[in-house]
Amino acid sequence: MSSDYQVDRQGGPIGATVSDIDLNNLDSNAVDFLRNALSTHLVLFFRDQSLDPTSLLTLASKFGVPAPYPFVKGVPGFPEVVEVVKRPEDTRNFGGVWHSDTAYLKTPAMGALLYGVDIPAQGGDTIFTNMYDVFDSLSAGMKSFLGQQTAINDADNSAIRATRPGTGYKGLQATHPVVRTHPVTKRPLLYVNKAHTTRFAGMSEQESAPILTFLFDRIIQPEFSCRFRWQRGSLAFWDNRACQHYPLNDYQGQLRKMLRVSLAGDKPR
Ligand code: SIN
Repeated sequence: MSSDYQVDRQGGPIGATVSDIDLNNLDSNAVDFLRNALSTHLVLFFRDQSLDPTSLLTLASKFGVPAPYPFVKGVPGFPEVVEVVKRPEDTRNFGGVWHSDTAYLKTPAMGALLYGVDIPAQGGDTIFTNMYDVFDSLSAGMKSFLGQQTAINDADNSAIRATRPGTGYKGLQATHPVVRTHPVTKRPLLYVNKAHTTRFAGMSEQESAPILTFLFDRIIQPEFSCRFRWQRGSLAFWDNRACQHYPLNDYQGQLRKMLRVSLAGDKPR
């Protein structure tokens, strides 16, 4: 298979759509091509793919080690493949707060693949934001302060608790650098997120709140983001180390069903 795929940038600073590609048929050149594209664009989008739990897992395995999502049961026979579903009668959506996946783990996910099975006629887009650019936008003084901090990331933070199935999030916490260096690009990026980051280490929640609130507001500025409109058969593959995402909850009364696989990551440094 040739690696000359068409890659079209999605928005300004993040995201690209890769065309003329069959994700069921990737050779090692294609995998290398997509790895490089992911490093550049942080999230890749694909249309008109035909995947099921088996082929999604096979695809994910080409890019890393699939990992079960904490507290969420996989589909029968596939512990690493999770259904992300919002039924017409549901009011909340899975992960419906700006977040980086599983920041409360000692080794948070390096990435995730999300595949559209049932997509609402209107709504249900996902927004992604570029955390290198968010960091770069800060003043030298703020970068220097943040560069000396670590922060507590908690699975049971109230901001995210109500948006996920399963229980038992209590006690799952990890302390990570507030500014991490991407292991592939070696670039610094901001690594706090509204869903999970509760405070700076050595400071109270009240003391941390003004700066965290400032950062959470900065993260959601549209200049750093792109927005993806799903179709049945679309797939998004994001680098969870370098971007955050937010699934919009603007399709009440409609079904949205996705399949998702996370890839195991390393310890943020
Ligand atoms: C997630 O956070 O994994 C859900 C993303 C989405 O449903 O668009």
